[in-house]
Amino acid sequence: MTHRSPDAAPWWRSAVVYQIYPRSFQDTTGDGVGDLAGIARRLDHVVALGVDAIWISPIYPSPMKDFGYDVADYCAVDPLFGTLADFDALVAAAHARGLAVLLDFVPSHTSDEHPWFRESRSSRENARRDWYVWADPAPGGGPPNNWLSEFGGPAWSLDEATGQYWLHIYLREQPALNWRNPDVQAAMLDVMRFWFDRGVDGFRVDAVEHLVPSAALTDNPPDPAWRPGMQEARALHRAYTAHQPEVFDAARAMRRVAGEYAPERLLIGEAYGTLPEVMAYYGGEGLDGFQLPFNFQLIFAEWRAESIASMVEGYEAALPAGAWPNWVMGNHDRPRIAGRIGPAQARVAAMLLMTLRGTPTIYQGEELGMVDVPIPPEMAHDPMEKNAPGQGFGRDPVRTPIPWEDGPKAGFTTDEPWLPIGGAPPVSAQAADPGSMLALYRRLTALRRAEPALSLGSYRTLACADDVLVFERRHGERRLVVALNFADAERPLAHEGPVLLSTHAGDRVAGRLAPNEGRVMEG
Ligand code: GLC
Repeated sequence: MTHRSPDAAPWWRSAVVYQIYPRSFQDTTGDGVGDLAGIARRLDHVVALGVDAIWISPIYPSPMKDFGYDVADYCAVDPLFGTLADFDALVAAAHARGLAVLLDFVPSHTSDEHPWFRESRSSRENARRDWYVWADPAPGGGPPNNWLSEFGGPAWSLDEATGQYWLHIYLREQPALNWRNPDVQAAMLDVMRFWFDRGVDGFRVDAVEHLVPSAALTDNPPDPAWRPGMQEARALHRAYTAHQPEVFDAARAMRRVAGEYAPERLLIGEAYGTLPEVMAYYGGEGLDGFQLPFNFQLIFAEWRAESIASMVEGYEAALPAGAWPNWVMGNHDRPRIAGRIGPAQARVAAMLLMTLRGTPTIYQGEELGMVDVPIPPEMAHDPMEKNAPGQGFGRDPVRTPIPWEDGPKAGFTTDEPWLPIGGAPPVSAQAADPGSMLALYRRLTALRRAEPALSLGSYRTLACADDVLVFERRHGERRLVVALNFADAERPLAHEGPVLLSTHAGDRVAGRLAPNEGRVMEG
């Protein structure tokens, strides 16, 4: 594999990651659901986009209660997506094109159809009983404590036959593994080795904050910030379920396995938390945890120059010495950025994501400016929607298929797509239009690739006032200045270097930014 890396930095520092949601990327079998052969077929798009790594959401055998995040076998491929041979072919094709391949690793819970859980559930004496988190009913009956499922309702379900409750931080069909059991740890670390041995370059580690909830099963306190209309799970502060101390040891154990390989494999952690909580996943001063604990702040940021500037500075200041930053604007769980801030600002956001210091992750469809696609109630798939219908928590609207071409099936499938297709003009049209979002993304990744100042350089805020954020990226002698106009109105601009890239076509007025314009200039 030929990972580009200016300097001697590990490849992933200068890389751009692209998240593929396999159900919605490309179908080749005509069943309306994307598959591995489809990803291989569309690698041209990935390469032309100019990214360095693909992270593929779960492809493992699964009853699909949570669309693959309920794994029934960690070391196989669901027939819906293809075979292990298809997977090997995809890895070979990706590597041949210089792309790294990252898989999704789901260590905190299995499917209730995983053989481990079937055994565990079969009796209290079963050798695998302790592979999951079981607890007796509360003294007066009912669930052992007040913990809530992220999908609504209690985080406990009663197994009538054995009289105990099993823990599930997500669906009842996603029983929580007991990471404290050394056999569970060993089995899960071997899963990592299984895929690393097949050539996988790293993992995105799912829901890691919930990997080791408190053994004392202490009630979570109410969260005073909760208001009616918010998700039920947010009513409690996750004091005893999320980010418990053992979780950081688990990150270290996973990193040691990544370090058994050369070059060392990459681990990206999914943990939603406060800044200090997220930083702890780097592993402290030794940086012996995840190389990249996901930084989700852009997903939640108030879209104003001042809030973005203080967020970036706060994050930069909080990074442990030597830790590498990263940025994310969306994923398969969160509303799409282009819908949230509008199409004009989505171009500014694209420039921000690709010019901040740190490894960016692009969620498939972001490069097309996709917005959430409305899903009629009868077509809802996501448990988040089904458990709280019509309240706006459903994730189907952000998981719709990629529109590749014009036409009713958009080149995605020949059958009925599993979710409606829409959200943006198709790839074919955007590829032919220099003013499209896709064209902008391609120019941004190309510039980033050409300019170590953008991929590896230092960051410094130069100015932030009147809806305009101006910052510097510097690498050695090379100095670039990025200016972003968050307003839908013209704004003065003090910096006047030669323009390398603008979100806008046509002539630029010196000393002024057009409404919603972003520019990268020489310093
Ligand atoms: C992560 C995934 C999400 C899934 C959950 C449970 O947050 O991104 O899609 O529902 O974990 O596995």
